Amino acid sequence: KRVGVLVSGRGSNLQALLDACADPAFPAEIVLVVSNVANAYALERAATAGVPSVTLSHKSFASREDFDAAMDAHLRQAGVEIVCLAGFMRLLSAGFVQSWDQRMINIHPSLLPSFKGLHTHARALEAGVKLHGCTVHLVTPDLDDGPIIVQAAVPVLADDTEDALAARVLEQEHKAYPLALRLIAEGRVAVDGNRAKVEAPGF
Ligand code: GRF
Repeated sequence: KRVGVLVSGRGSNLQALLDACADPAFPAEIVLVVSNVANAYALERAATAGVPSVTLSHKSFASREDFDAAMDAHLRQAGVEIVCLAGFMRLLSAGFVQSWDQRMINIHPSLLPSFKGLHTHARALEAGVKLHGCTVHLVTPDLDDGPIIVQAAVPVLADDTEDALAARVLEQEHKAYPLALRLIAEGRVAVDGNRAKVEAPGF
């Protein structure tokens, strides 16, 4: 399956997906990286992997819909079949989300539905939870919502800092995201209401 990845920053999850796709047995290939930030380090990762990329500055579009339409045109032109959001820090319009229904996934650094939105690690520490983690889910119009495909949990330790906890979660993100992409690309995810049912051993 042909995959487009939307990024805004560091791109460590993009890297995890690039690394997974480097295996010829992996059922997906990244054909386009789209960034809304010109100097995102993710763009260097794409270049190093030989993957085409495009930067579309949201500031040069009159509306969110116009920006999303431009992204959509690039994705369609590249023959993209699955879209992965990997640290993409823009809200998406309902029309864009609808047009990629069940073919767009996101990674979020919390065990959803807890801690939607930003600053998840600080909020987890503040809440005193003992388990934290990450979630890969299908994208629906509501932020950080949508059927959950994969989650991974980590312990919250007594002396944790935000950075230490973030690093522990990130390590799991880099495993969970390629796994979720593989399941989607293999057609093993069936959506039933709010639930994504995964047809694979262990799920
Ligand atoms: C990750 O923690 C991801 O879960 C969140 O934003 C961060 C992006 O990191 N959505 P990176 O750009 O993939 O390194």
